[in-house]
This record gives sequence, structure tokens and C-alpha cells, in this order.
Amino acid sequence: MAKHAQSDKTVTRERFSSELAVFFATLGSAVGLGNIWKFPSMVGQNGGGAFVLVYILSVILVALPVMVGEFIIGRRTRANSIDAFDVLKTSPFWKVIGYFGVLAAFSIMLFYTAVAGWVYSYAFKAIRGDFAVIAQLSAEQAAANVAAQFDGVAGGMSWPVMWQLILLLTLAVILIGGVKKGLERVTKTLMPVFLLLILVCILWSLRSPGLREGITFLFKPDFSKITGGVVLEAMGLAFFKLSIGMGTMITYGSYFTPKDKLMGTASRVAVSDVVVSLLIGTIIFPAVFAFGMQPGQGPGLLFNTIPLVFSEMPAGNVLLSLFFILASIAATTAILSMAEVVVAFLCERFHFKRWQSSLAVVSIVAVLSILTAHPSVFFGSATPHIAIRPFGAPISFFDFFDQLSSLILMPLGGLLVVILVGWFVRKDLVKDELSNYGALNNTRLIAGFRFLSRFVAPVLVLTVFLYAFIK
Ligand code: PHE
Repeated sequence: MAKHAQSDKTVTRERFSSELAVFFATLGSAVGLGNIWKFPSMVGQNGGGAFVLVYILSVILVALPVMVGEFIIGRRTRANSIDAFDVLKTSPFWKVIGYFGVLAAFSIMLFYTAVAGWVYSYAFKAIRGDFAVIAQLSAEQAAANVAAQFDGVAGGMSWPVMWQLILLLTLAVILIGGVKKGLERVTKTLMPVFLLLILVCILWSLRSPGLREGITFLFKPDFSKITGGVVLEAMGLAFFKLSIGMGTMITYGSYFTPKDKLMGTASRVAVSDVVVSLLIGTIIFPAVFAFGMQPGQGPGLLFNTIPLVFSEMPAGNVLLSLFFILASIAATTAILSMAEVVVAFLCERFHFKRWQSSLAVVSIVAVLSILTAHPSVFFGSATPHIAIRPFGAPISFFDFFDQLSSLILMPLGGLLVVILVGWFVRKDLVKDELSNYGALNNTRLIAGFRFLSRFVAPVLVLTVFLYAFIK
């Protein structure tokens, strides 16, 4: 079966067409609502600089080796994230990485597409001029007005749900296009534009009266805020941010060519991704302090601050619209990569056509996500958010899927990836992939990778896991 599947794939499989395409597609997966929405709200809730530091350490010591490990598995096997383990001829046990990955892909998509629906609806609100009035209000009034608009969006159902459906439809169209005409074309065009706009925003936020306080909050570590739980959250964020531990980078790696540099691509993507998050923090936190808001307010932070940031600027409304359009783009290219994990699997294992698997994935996400994130659509407007109690305290489905993926499935998947690549895959195979079959002269770097993946990353993930859960 595995052999058959593999020979089938060799005929039909696409690859990215250049190293630049590989970079932008991978970056398109990494950069998303994680940078724009999750990073600032988690930094705000966990006390600022110290969290940022632990996060960056997790990226370097844990996330990077996992990412490279996934690239190795993907490019070597040229298969989706489940069949890859057949091709590698490892024990069938390792397929749990793939199955957990599919579970994680769905659980992320369920809440992520709902937030992306808010982002799309903010782009629309901005274009329509809903935020234009705040320019004339005092700082407090402006903050209150924007907060009320967010409550309307987050609590109200019809607009965000409609935008979520539009997003899912867009997604289906791109997915059906395939690797080159879909994933590659979209990410290569849109990611550079996204990066450019962030730079424009930064120039403006440098003039904010809250600049000094914002920057201090973001960069000055206060270690009294760090607990085992906070470290697990920072590590979970690193996994989420770099889209690892769930098969995305195995799947994307399987579209790389023999010339693409695995360690080079991973480091470039990781560095760019951290820089984007810090830049977004530099845009958001000065505004938080300038407008007297709470940094720890949680998921509403992005939506409550960005309209204020732009209200002060000339042509603010145009820039605000652009910002949310670009945030929509970043969200879309990230979701694309989650969905691709499942689409590739369905196509290769069950011989679905691309359009069939794309539509199947998108429809399942649409129904489940609206059921869980917007239950009132199905059960009437009086339905509160359904709370479940997986670990004692009641949490919403939204938080449940978020925590299940970031705090459990992805770190577990990542742990298994580094153990597999570090201890069970043949050393010369790893060396072949990392040196592009001898073309690169990078023995030292390879030794560094082996050390991180065999010892540092597994020990760190295990320690953080045990510490956070036993306490
Ligand atoms: N990395 C993406 C972000 O930060 C989220 C993501 C997670 C994408 C997992 C793909 C897979 O927004």
C-alpha cells in the first residue's frame, strides 16, 4: 500500500518552483494571527518582557530544531504528514505524529477561522468608515467607542459568521489551485506587501506618546511573572507561531526541491517571524499606554488598539483599512497551510481530487466552527457560549481548541518529531538532507542541529510539560 501510494505520488506531486517561493510560502504559514492577535495578547497577559524572552528562547532551542526535523521528514519522503512515516519505514507508532497533526489542524482551524472572520469584518468596517468618528473624540471616549464596536462584533453573530464563510470560500478557491498556482502564487505576491505595510505602521507608531512605556513593557523583563504555566504558554506559542508539531512543515517540506536549504529556510523564517511579532508589539503597546488601556485585556487587544493607533494619523482610515486587509491576508495564508495538511492527506491516501478534498475540509470546518464559536447561529440568539470542563474550570470551546492544540498536541507532536529525527532516523539520511546531498559544506551546523534535536529540545519540552502539569 505504502509503496503503491509512493509511486503514485512521484508522478503527480507538485513542488515549489524557487527558493524564494519556498521562503514566502513557509513564512506565509508562520506569519498570521499568531503575530498580530495572539502574540500581543499573550505578552499583555503574561507581564511583557520576561515572557518575550522565554518565547524567543523557545523558538531557538525548541521550535527551530522541530521545524528542521519536519522539513527533513517531508522532503525525504515527499509524502503527506501521515504516509511520510510509511515511506520512512519507521515503526507505525510514529504515525501518531501525523494523526495528532490532523486533529490539531482541525482544532486550530475551528477557532482561528472565527477570529479571521472578525479580522475580515474589521477590514470591511474600516473601509466603510465606521472608525472615522474616533479621530474627533478624546482619548478615553475614543477607547470606549472602539471597545464597544469590538463587543458588538465579538458578541454579535451575523457579520462575523458571514465573513468567516467568505474567508472559507476564498480558502477553498486557493486550495483547489494547488501548490504552484494556489499556495505559491498567493503567498509570493502577498507576503512582501504585508511586510511593507508593517514598516509603514512602525514609522507612525514611533511618534506615539506612549512609545517609551510601550517599549519598556515589551522589552524589559520582570521575572517575577514567570511560572511553569507561563513557560508552557510561551513554548506553546513558539510551536503555534512556527506552525510546527502538527504536520504543516512536513507537508510543506514535501514540496521543497533538492536545492532548497532546510536549515537556512528554517532560520530565515524563524527570525523574520519573531521580528514581525516584535514590530506588531511595537505598534500595539505604545497605543495601549497612550490611550490608558489595560495591556492584559486578552483577545480583544488587537481589535481595541489598532483603530486607535491609526486614528491619530493623516489618512488614518486608509491605513487602517489596509492594515486589516493585510491581517486578513496573513490569516488566510496561515489557514491555507493548516488545511493543506488534511487536503494532501485526503488526495494521496484516498485518491480524492484536489477540489473534492478542499471542499470537504472547508465544509467540515465551516459547520463545526460555527457550531462551537457561534452556537447562537444554530440554537437561537439566547444561547450562551457553551462551556466545557476538561480540566476543572469551565472554558469555552474556543479556548478549549486553542489550549488543546497549543499546549498539548503541538508540543507533543514536536517532541516526537525531534526524538524520531534525533534518535531513530539514520544519521546519514539526516546528513544527506541537511547538506543537500553533499552540496553544502556545513558539517558544524549539522552537528549543532543534532545536538539540539537529540538532547536540548526533547529535555526542555519534557521538563516544561512535567513541571506545568504536575503542579
Ligand atoms: N503560524 C500561524 C500563526 O501564527 C498559525 C498556524 C499554526 C499555521 C499551525 C499553521 C499551522 O498565525
